[in-house]
Amino acid sequence: MGLFSSSMALNSFDDLFVEQLQDLYDAEQRLVKALPKMADASHSASLKSAFQEHYRQTQGHVSRLEQVFKMLGKSAQSKTCEAMKGLVAEGEEVLSAKGDPDVKDAALIAAAQRVEHYEIAGYGTARTFAQRLGRQDAARLLQQTLDEEGATDKKLTALAEQSVNPKAAATT
Ligand SMILES: [Fe+2]
Repeated sequence: MGLFSSSMALNSFDDLFVEQLQDLYDAEQRLVKALPKMADASHSASLKSAFQEHYRQTQGHVSRLEQVFKMLGKSAQSKTCEAMKGLVAEGEEVLSAKGDPDVKDAALIAAAQRVEHYEIAGYGTARTFAQRLGRQDAARLLQQTLDEEGATDKKLTALAEQSVNPKAAATT
Protein backbone atom coordinates (compact mmCIF):
# COMPACT_ATOMS: atom_id res chain seq x y z
CA MET A 1 0.00 0.00 0.00
CA GLY A 2 2.91 2.38 -0.39
CA LEU A 3 2.48 3.50 3.20
CA PHE A 4 5.92 5.07 3.21
CA SER A 5 5.84 6.90 -0.11
CA SER A 6 7.29 10.35 0.37
CA SER A 7 4.42 12.23 -1.25
CA MET A 8 1.80 11.17 1.24
CA ALA A 9 0.63 13.57 3.93
CA LEU A 10 -1.05 12.00 6.92
CA ASN A 11 -2.05 15.03 8.90
CA SER A 12 -5.35 13.70 10.12
CA PHE A 13 -7.17 10.46 10.76
CA ASP A 14 -9.48 11.56 7.98
CA ASP A 15 -6.51 11.73 5.56
CA LEU A 16 -5.54 8.23 6.57
CA PHE A 17 -9.08 6.95 6.02
CA VAL A 18 -9.14 8.42 2.50
CA GLU A 19 -5.69 6.98 1.77
CA GLN A 20 -6.92 3.52 2.79
CA LEU A 21 -9.94 3.89 0.50
CA GLN A 22 -7.72 4.93 -2.42
CA ASP A 23 -5.59 1.85 -1.87
CA LEU A 24 -8.65 -0.41 -1.82
CA TYR A 25 -10.02 1.31 -4.92
CA ASP A 26 -6.85 0.49 -6.83
CA ALA A 27 -6.81 -3.08 -5.47
CA GLU A 28 -10.40 -3.75 -6.55
CA GLN A 29 -9.79 -2.39 -10.04
CA ARG A 30 -6.80 -4.70 -10.42
CA LEU A 31 -8.98 -7.61 -9.36
CA VAL A 32 -11.71 -6.76 -11.85
CA LYS A 33 -9.04 -7.30 -14.52
CA ALA A 34 -7.57 -10.45 -12.97
CA LEU A 35 -10.66 -12.46 -12.00
CA PRO A 36 -11.92 -13.24 -15.53
CA LYS A 37 -8.47 -14.66 -16.33
CA MET A 38 -8.62 -16.81 -13.22
CA ALA A 39 -12.10 -18.03 -14.18
CA ASP A 40 -10.87 -18.89 -17.68
CA ALA A 41 -7.92 -20.78 -16.27
CA SER A 42 -10.04 -22.86 -13.86
CA HIS A 43 -10.43 -26.51 -14.73
CA SER A 44 -13.13 -27.21 -12.14
CA ALA A 45 -16.56 -25.93 -13.19
CA SER A 46 -17.44 -24.95 -9.64
CA LEU A 47 -14.19 -23.03 -9.23
CA LYS A 48 -14.82 -21.27 -12.53
CA SER A 49 -18.29 -20.21 -11.40
CA ALA A 50 -16.96 -19.10 -8.00
CA PHE A 51 -14.48 -16.79 -9.78
CA GLN A 52 -17.21 -15.55 -12.13
CA GLU A 53 -19.49 -14.77 -9.21
CA HIS A 54 -16.72 -12.99 -7.35
CA TYR A 55 -15.93 -11.02 -10.50
CA ARG A 56 -19.50 -9.67 -10.45
CA GLN A 57 -19.25 -8.93 -6.74
CA THR A 58 -15.93 -7.17 -7.27
CA GLN A 59 -17.49 -4.84 -9.82
CA GLY A 60 -19.97 -4.00 -7.05
CA HIS A 61 -17.07 -3.40 -4.65
CA VAL A 62 -15.65 -0.82 -7.04
CA SER A 63 -18.96 1.03 -7.21
CA ARG A 64 -19.47 0.81 -3.44
CA LEU A 65 -16.10 2.51 -2.95
CA GLU A 66 -17.19 5.18 -5.43
CA GLN A 67 -20.31 5.70 -3.30
CA VAL A 68 -18.14 6.02 -0.19
CA PHE A 69 -15.92 8.67 -1.85
CA LYS A 70 -19.08 10.52 -2.85
CA MET A 71 -20.48 10.39 0.71
CA LEU A 72 -17.24 11.95 1.92
CA GLY A 73 -17.34 14.63 -0.77
CA LYS A 74 -14.11 13.31 -2.31
CA SER A 75 -13.34 12.37 -5.86
CA ALA A 76 -12.76 8.67 -6.42
CA GLN A 77 -9.01 8.43 -6.76
CA SER A 78 -6.83 5.38 -6.66
CA LYS A 79 -3.37 5.05 -5.29
CA THR A 80 -1.21 2.17 -6.50
CA CYS A 81 -1.69 -0.81 -4.24
CA GLU A 82 1.73 -2.44 -4.45
CA ALA A 83 0.57 -5.43 -2.42
CA MET A 84 -2.33 -6.26 -4.73
CA LYS A 85 -0.05 -5.75 -7.71
CA GLY A 86 2.21 -8.44 -6.25
CA LEU A 87 -0.64 -10.78 -5.35
CA VAL A 88 -2.07 -10.52 -8.86
CA ALA A 89 1.39 -11.12 -10.34
CA GLU A 90 1.63 -14.32 -8.29
CA GLY A 91 -1.80 -15.37 -9.57
CA GLU A 92 -0.61 -14.74 -13.11
CA GLU A 93 2.32 -17.09 -12.60
CA VAL A 94 -0.28 -19.82 -12.07
CA LEU A 95 -2.15 -18.84 -15.24
CA SER A 96 0.92 -19.40 -17.35
CA ALA A 97 2.13 -22.48 -15.45
CA LYS A 98 2.26 -25.84 -17.15
CA GLY A 99 1.23 -29.00 -15.37
CA ASP A 100 -1.72 -30.88 -13.97
CA PRO A 101 -5.08 -29.03 -14.21
CA ASP A 102 -6.22 -30.11 -10.73
CA VAL A 103 -2.95 -28.98 -9.17
CA LYS A 104 -3.26 -25.68 -11.04
CA ASP A 105 -6.78 -25.28 -9.61
CA ALA A 106 -5.38 -25.77 -6.10
CA ALA A 107 -2.75 -23.12 -6.92
CA LEU A 108 -5.44 -20.70 -8.17
CA ILE A 109 -7.31 -21.09 -4.88
CA ALA A 110 -4.09 -20.53 -2.93
CA ALA A 111 -3.50 -17.29 -4.83
CA ALA A 112 -7.13 -16.16 -4.55
CA GLN A 113 -7.30 -16.74 -0.81
CA ARG A 114 -4.22 -14.58 -0.28
CA VAL A 115 -6.09 -11.85 -2.15
CA GLU A 116 -9.24 -12.33 -0.06
CA HIS A 117 -7.34 -12.17 3.21
CA TYR A 118 -5.58 -9.00 2.11
CA GLU A 119 -8.94 -7.43 1.26
CA ILE A 120 -10.48 -8.60 4.53
CA ALA A 121 -7.68 -6.80 6.38
CA GLY A 122 -8.12 -3.65 4.30
CA TYR A 123 -11.90 -3.47 4.59
CA GLY A 124 -11.87 -4.34 8.29
CA THR A 125 -9.53 -1.41 8.92
CA ALA A 126 -11.46 0.99 6.68
CA ARG A 127 -14.79 0.02 8.29
CA THR A 128 -13.35 0.56 11.76
CA PHE A 129 -11.89 3.94 10.74
CA ALA A 130 -15.30 4.97 9.32
CA GLN A 131 -16.98 4.10 12.61
CA ARG A 132 -14.42 6.08 14.61
CA LEU A 133 -14.97 9.06 12.31
CA GLY A 134 -18.72 8.84 12.88
CA ARG A 135 -19.38 7.85 9.28
CA GLN A 136 -21.88 5.06 9.84
CA ASP A 137 -23.09 5.44 6.26
CA ALA A 138 -19.64 4.61 4.90
CA ALA A 139 -19.06 1.95 7.55
CA ARG A 140 -22.21 0.13 6.49
CA LEU A 141 -21.12 -0.06 2.84
CA LEU A 142 -17.61 -1.15 3.75
CA GLN A 143 -19.07 -3.84 6.02
CA GLN A 144 -21.18 -5.19 3.15
CA THR A 145 -18.08 -5.64 1.02
CA LEU A 146 -16.19 -7.10 3.97
CA ASP A 147 -18.96 -9.68 4.40
CA GLU A 148 -18.77 -10.65 0.72
CA GLU A 149 -15.00 -11.04 0.87
CA GLY A 150 -15.38 -13.25 3.93
CA ALA A 151 -18.05 -15.37 2.26
CA THR A 152 -15.84 -15.76 -0.82
CA ASP A 153 -12.94 -16.88 1.32
CA LYS A 154 -15.12 -19.51 3.03
CA LYS A 155 -16.48 -20.70 -0.28
CA LEU A 156 -12.93 -21.15 -1.62
CA THR A 157 -11.99 -23.11 1.50
CA ALA A 158 -14.97 -25.41 1.02
CA LEU A 159 -14.13 -25.93 -2.67
CA ALA A 160 -10.51 -26.67 -1.84
CA GLU A 161 -11.30 -29.10 0.96
CA GLN A 162 -14.21 -30.88 -0.67
CA SER A 163 -13.14 -31.20 -4.28
CA VAL A 164 -10.05 -29.44 -5.57
CA ASN A 165 -7.42 -30.59 -3.07
CA PRO A 166 -8.52 -34.26 -3.08
CA LYS A 167 -8.19 -34.29 -6.89
CA ALA A 168 -4.87 -32.46 -6.78
CA ALA A 169 -3.60 -34.92 -4.14
CA ALA A 170 -4.48 -37.84 -6.41
CA THR A 171 -1.56 -36.78 -8.63
CA THR A 172 0.91 -37.62 -5.90
FE1 LIG B 1 -13.56 -6.99 -3.28
